Amino acid sequence: MNMIKFESARVASIKSSPSMAVSMAAKAMRAQGESVIDLSLGEPDFETPDHVVEAAVEAMRKGLTRYTAPDGLPELRQAIVAKFKRENGLHYAQDEISIGNGAKQILFNAFLGTLEPGDEVIVPAPYWVSYTDLVILHGGTAKIVQCGVEDAFKITPERLEAAITPRTRWFLFNSPSNPTGAIYTADELKALGEVLARHPRVAIMSDEIYEHIVCANVPFTSFAIACPDLKERTLIINGVSKAYAMTGWRLGYAAGPKDLTKVLNKLQSQSTTCPSSITQYAAAAALNGPQDFVTTAVAEYKARGALVARGFSAIPGLEIRAPEGAFYLFPKCSGYIGRTAPDGSRIANDTELASYLLKEGKVATVPGAAFGVEPYIRLSFATSRDNLSIAIERTADALAKLR
Ligand SMILES: Cc1ncc(COP(=O)(O)O)c(C=O)c1O
Repeated sequence: MNMIKFESARVASIKSSPSMAVSMAAKAMRAQGESVIDLSLGEPDFETPDHVVEAAVEAMRKGLTRYTAPDGLPELRQAIVAKFKRENGLHYAQDEISIGNGAKQILFNAFLGTLEPGDEVIVPAPYWVSYTDLVILHGGTAKIVQCGVEDAFKITPERLEAAITPRTRWFLFNSPSNPTGAIYTADELKALGEVLARHPRVAIMSDEIYEHIVCANVPFTSFAIACPDLKERTLIINGVSKAYAMTGWRLGYAAGPKDLTKVLNKLQSQSTTCPSSITQYAAAAALNGPQDFVTTAVAEYKARGALVARGFSAIPGLEIRAPEGAFYLFPKCSGYIGRTAPDGSRIANDTELASYLLKEGKVATVPGAAFGVEPYIRLSFATSRDNLSIAIERTADALAKLR
């Protein structure tokens, strides 16, 4: 037996990504020949657009395969600056930009770069699975504010005010939201901004990675547009993963005050140096090139969102709020907690309900517990309408067997 304890206390304090774990379990069942519909991963099912792939191939052929500056190729930084101006009406200089191997690494760098032990980060729940673990990993405390379906999944100014303490370092939120699909309106953001304006030591992290994926008639508004006076203490996080179906390419970016991006870029220089140069050329092509891929993909997500909202609403015992954006449905499932499965086992919580749905219904979902609220399940509709129709049927059948 190995006598060395490899895991540090810091790493022992966090968990592996729960959505990845469900997806791995679904893959393992598939490998055994089971027909599992995987609604667990937030990953576009489209191919990366051809012109983006071509840009990467061209970069490789031209030998553009060297390290780049930690804050990226000038061409990419320029493309990001132009994106913020064109799509959001936001003006940033090139030194107010940072890039990372995915938006996830930007979050990692931001917390590593700014948190002192015991600093608090306010995170409305449900939250994206990685937020709280990344805060904890870097010595911070995640101050979770519960915002269930009855709150339209959004934090109110009163609750935000109540959560702020002298230790609050960041307010972190995500709109359109993973896992709920909720979008904050410009007025809602302004109202939150009024609270934050009274607390000049609190910085804002606005994760806008799903900005293009809008399903309902609620327009996306960037936090820095709704609250221009707070732009100087706002870090906007974004990336190419979701908009351009580039999850495996690993490119995230952020815009914020120069003093902050300097910290992020310093960390980048001592971690991965830079994201792959090839990916950077591809990401510049995605941001600068034709945007019709995004329009087509969003039209499809819209149709799928309507299909799942309709289908799952018809299942008794599930409480649904139709998604306004992103590609997730987040039904509340209290009606099924405490029921008994055909094998006699009792469904005590949403984690057990998700396991039951996987085993009995062959549908992979992620339990609400992973996102800090219970009892819910998250369903990703980034898969074909045929798959979604089968998933609705199987879920209804499996749930109907619970007594
Ligand atoms: C809300 C949110 N933020 C950030 C990310 C990270 O994206 P990436 O690291 O692929 O850029 C994800 C991915 O699922 C997400 O859902």
